Amino acid sequence: MDKIVIEGGTVLKGTVKISGAKNAALPVIAACLLTGGRHQIHNVPHLKDIQTIRLIMSRMGVVFQEDEGVLSVSSDNLREFEASYDLVKTMRASILLIGPLLARLGKAKISMPGGCAIGARPINLHLKALAAMGVDMFLDRGYINAQTDRLKGASIFFDIPTVTGTENIMMAAVKAEGQTILKNSAAEPEIQNLADMLRGMGAHIEGDGTDTIIIDGVDDLRPAQHKIIPDRIEAGTFMIAATMTQGEITIEDCRPDHLPAVIEKLQSVGAGIEMTDNDLFIKGPDTINSVDIKTMPFPGFPTDLQAQFMAMMCIANGSSIIKETIFENRFIHVSELKRMGADISINGNQALVRGKDRLLAAPVMATDLRASASLVLAGLVAEDGRTEVSRIYHLDRGYEALEEKFQALGAMIRREKA
Ligand code: EPZ
Repeated sequence: MDKIVIEGGTVLKGTVKISGAKNAALPVIAACLLTGGRHQIHNVPHLKDIQTIRLIMSRMGVVFQEDEGVLSVSSDNLREFEASYDLVKTMRASILLIGPLLARLGKAKISMPGGCAIGARPINLHLKALAAMGVDMFLDRGYINAQTDRLKGASIFFDIPTVTGTENIMMAAVKAEGQTILKNSAAEPEIQNLADMLRGMGAHIEGDGTDTIIIDGVDDLRPAQHKIIPDRIEAGTFMIAATMTQGEITIEDCRPDHLPAVIEKLQSVGAGIEMTDNDLFIKGPDTINSVDIKTMPFPGFPTDLQAQFMAMMCIANGSSIIKETIFENRFIHVSELKRMGADISINGNQALVRGKDRLLAAPVMATDLRASASLVLAGLVAEDGRTEVSRIYHLDRGYEALEEKFQALGAMIRREKA
């Protein structure tokens, strides 16, 4: 297993280009199951999770080809409808396959994804919505067996605005009989990117980006020509890194309008931020102000940047309260940050972070994707030696060449075989 080694203390300077968003690419690739023909997807990031969904879909008969940055996907020979446990257990987002498989074939056999480090991650809202659309399902030996003669439009209220739940039902609804109304739906930019792709295929969708999405089923769809939006969580990670290190960086190919809460909070921390539609320049302050955050569905502060923001608050001037409202166990990074000298106390879903002058270099262990990013950020500011982050396969699930991008900004960081 690889590890990342960081000598802290560098001020980050330069330019970084943001990759396509993992959480946009996964539903978009799944949506290629909806119809035959050759879909062409641009700006797909090279990540472990993308490899995983390609492997699962390849086993179903889907053909992938990548050249010159364009991923071609053909599901003409779709012959299987099973996503097996050995792969699904490594990537919960495989549940995104059930909606398009039911829309295309009327059947799907998907391993229950199981929980992960940050929470139980139930899929009850996905299944409840599919049942309302006329899907018969039963659980057998850890697999969801789903079948329907024809998906029927329905009025669906999500108890919680679930991101992949909204995406799954959008994909199920585009060829369903009649109209589907999704209420209390999630409004993340990745959902709007999926809706853009589906409209490009001929789907009738409106309201994406709000809490009510209306879909009128159509009989046929055409292959997609689509571009994945930039990864707002990667962009936010670099923005926090620049703020922590008093750096000055330009972030290219990002969408500042996808990060309203993060920009506002970093300005409160003291960062200077200038932006255009597709680029952002950020200058870190001499003193990091302590600022409270509460994670919320979009457009609130994203839970996927909570761990990274916490790493910054560990060296802020004063104390901050970090409230995690989306997942029940998303403070695993706290114990590792405390190994680096952070002063953090947890009370339920709230963490009180008392800022200190510095963090101390130490060997630490990644436990989930975004926790591993927060440990890398902590290592960047731990000035007294080497921080080694082990189990960085977590990092490789969601960040494309992170250490190379930080090296290009001047960080003393490298990947080593553990
Ligand atoms: C998506 O996960 C993202 N993953 C997550 O990113 C992200 O943290 C999360 O949305 C929240 O923004 C992808 O898009 C692939 P949810 P998802 O359904 O869809 C509860 C990363 O680091 N819930 O919006 O699984 C759930 O327990 C990952 O890139 C139910 O109770 O999240 C949670 O408390 C981590 N029943 C809340 O809703 C359900 O059926 C929000 O979860 C579904 C969800």
